Amino acid sequence: MTEYETIIVETRGRVGWITLNRPEALNALNSTLIREIVTAGKEFDHDPDIGAIVLTGSEKAFAAGADIKEIADKGYIDMYLNDPFKSWADFGRLRTPAIAAVAGFALGGGCELAMMCDIILAADTAKFGQPEINLGVIPGIGGTQRLPRAIGKYKAAELVLTGRMMGAEEAERSGLVSRIVPAAELLDEAAKVAEIIASKSLPVVYAAKDALQAAQESTLAEGLRFEKQAFAATFALDDQTEGMGAFREKRTPEFSHR
Ligand code: CAA
Repeated sequence: MTEYETIIVETRGRVGWITLNRPEALNALNSTLIREIVTAGKEFDHDPDIGAIVLTGSEKAFAAGADIKEIADKGYIDMYLNDPFKSWADFGRLRTPAIAAVAGFALGGGCELAMMCDIILAADTAKFGQPEINLGVIPGIGGTQRLPRAIGKYKAAELVLTGRMMGAEEAERSGLVSRIVPAAELLDEAAKVAEIIASKSLPVVYAAKDALQAAQESTLAEGLRFEKQAFAATFALDDQTEGMGAFREKRTPEFSHR
């Protein structure tokens, strides 16, 4: 197992846990933290015994954004040619479903990281925002693209252009978060959701995630064509035979992930 400096990585059954651990900087995403999250995510993704990933921070902060102190003195060429955020694309391409369990601040790159996950569970203490405009920059790892897709153009524009934070209630109302839970129950709830997903057939979960992703990236007609093929392909799996057989026999299916 790789050694990490800024995250805690654990495996609980078929669920991989990544806990951001830079409390002194509210989990600001410096280059080490970015490299470690992406590496841990990819290691879980390559492990067939992992069926879901939970990504979380601390009670005070999921992540307060890119590490401002690390990037403050950079120039255009540093950010463009030596793009320090390049590897986030690999995190966005993980096949294993990822659940962001968010308490406290999820700002800038922190909000963008949560949006790279498939499900966002929010503690009632969660605060989301894209405050980059206050720093004289704009969101740089997907905020201007994923936020409007999640909450609509007009609300996203208000948040990105003013830098205003929104609380958990407003985030749920706007469709950014899957569900709000009391802060004390956040990790237990995330574990439950992750265990349910991890108990399903892994190739079917991958297919469902792929199809959901297609909904974000394509027209309705293209997405429907993609879904038709992916749906038909599940009928090539042992797990389809097992799932439908178990239904007929009134028992719980035992998926072999084949
Ligand atoms: N980068 C670096 N350090 C950060 C940080 C960040 N994004 N956010 C917080 N910290 C540090 C603070 O500097 C402070 O450290 P010191 O004590 O050594 O000064 C420590 O974490 C605690 O922070 P505060 O004292 O500020 O805590 P607070 O409770 O008073 O305020 C906060 C909390 C409102 C989140 C405030 O810290 C804040 O506004 N942080 C910056 C949020 C932000 O602008 N994020 C966007 C970053 S740019 C980006 O993310 C670009 C992109 O799209 C990729």
